Amino acid sequence: MTNAHAIAAREHKQTEALSLGIDDAFIATLVQNFYTRIRSDAELGPIFDDRIKDWPSHLERMNTFWRSILFKSGEFSGNPMMKHVAIPRIAKPDFSRWLKLFGETLDEMGAVSAARNLIFKRAEMIAESLLLGICIHRDGISHPQKMKG
Ligand code: HEM
Repeated sequence: MTNAHAIAAREHKQTEALSLGIDDAFIATLVQNFYTRIRSDAELGPIFDDRIKDWPSHLERMNTFWRSILFKSGEFSGNPMMKHVAIPRIAKPDFSRWLKLFGETLDEMGAVSAARNLIFKRAEMIAESLLLGICIHRDGISHPQKMKG
């Protein structure tokens, strides 16, 4: 992609998101509310609390992640796959639960349905690819688990 194309794609993404009410403040609230929900969850809370020692900086990192996903802002650099592969025993039910809590957070915020769909679909796709990466890392490519089905 040329630089001009990249800039046009970014502007298009951002305009689309903004028209649905998705801006920096919306993302910050989503991230804040979601991780509050995660931390009080009996199943997922301990997985996060065992590993995250500095919550404000994790939340800031997740803000940059979601701005990169939703606005193509290019701010995030990290390696989510390696970080998740390193968590022992996480599997499909954990990802299903993560997505359930994420959806509940969007509902609680009263996101319009187009905004909810846009964000939730991205989360589902990323969950699917993380799960696939984890399965391949553990078992090779013979028996990949899928989020759906
Ligand atoms: C089973 C569900 C999940 C669990 C238990 C989980 C847990 C975690 C934990 C503990 C960390 C911190 C890792 C560290 O700093 O060492 C982390 C980081 C992260 N997670 Fe998840 N996660 C889950 C699903 C997801 C999904 C579905 C997404 C995206 C939609 C996601 C995106 C991220 C990102 C972007 C980071 C930061 C990675 C980095 O610093 O490079 N996670 N996750």
